[in-house]
Amino acid sequence: MQPTKYIWMDGEFVDWDDATIHVLSHGLHYGTGAFEGIRAYETDRGPAVFRLTEHIERLARSSKALGIPIEWSVDEIVKASKELFSANGLTSGYIRPLVYYGTGSMGLNPAGASAHTMIATWEWGAYLGEEGVTNGIRVKVSSWRRIGHDSLMPNAKLTGGYVNSVQAKQEALRGGYDEALMLNTDGFVAEGSGENLFLIRNGVVRTPSLASGVLEGLTRDTVITLLRDDGYEVIETEMTRTDLYYADEMFFTGTAAEVTPIREVDDRPVGDGRPGPVTKRAQEMFMDTVTGRNERHSDWLDYV
Ligand SMILES: Cc1ncc(COP(=O)(O)O)c(C=O)c1O
Repeated sequence: MQPTKYIWMDGEFVDWDDATIHVLSHGLHYGTGAFEGIRAYETDRGPAVFRLTEHIERLARSSKALGIPIEWSVDEIVKASKELFSANGLTSGYIRPLVYYGTGSMGLNPAGASAHTMIATWEWGAYLGEEGVTNGIRVKVSSWRRIGHDSLMPNAKLTGGYVNSVQAKQEALRGGYDEALMLNTDGFVAEGSGENLFLIRNGVVRTPSLASGVLEGLTRDTVITLLRDDGYEVIETEMTRTDLYYADEMFFTGTAAEVTPIREVDDRPVGDGRPGPVTKRAQEMFMDTVTGRNERHSDWLDYV
């Protein structure tokens, strides 16, 4: 990771190296935080952040679910994100806002702990590698089940919940795979460690429903919208492990992962083992949209 100049902390631009917190921060001990991952792309009209307000609205929803107060309005965090991106001299990259509990309470009850907001930005290339974006990645169904609605809030982006994703990711990498795919506690397909899943069979596109215990991904919503614009049928439903093996095509979506084809699942090739036509079309439409070449959804771009 290449450091940038500033990090925004509670309203101040702080030098990257000075952006530190106390070791007794509640969020550090108990995972009591909510965060976002956002990308900005170079366009003909300068850098544009993709669906920025909706990401910050999701941050506000996640924080509400956790019960942590945010001192800043959605508009203020949107403005600060763009100012920071600009101050760091970036033309494209990643934006990471985080709301977390600081010091003041060391019991589980965070009452009395201070609440903080920070934003960082940095350059970030293809999360699952350029090779993965071009030729597809190898995925393994994880031995870890995705956190369920009965234990946490899978559709809130809470820091503590990501211990589940980290375990799944590490297990997949240790096994020689590129990414994990988690089932939910009922045995239905949920999502990757940091991505939503899509599969195509007989020309119909399917993705696990929100009730399956997945994050309400903005890239998921983007791809559903773009594929429907293009005339594809897209169904949000429960999906089984066998559905994975019978798929003609499969891909992951996420802010970090963008649209990444899956060429193999559980050591079985997906289709003929190469990215298929629907996946390539989704990739193409996605890139055209985030870089402003598709004007139909220009309202999704927030110019810096
Ligand atoms: C668990 C999980 N699922 C899905 C996604 C994709 O969400 P989005 O497209 O909003 O980045 C992410 C990334 O934030 C994630 O962490």
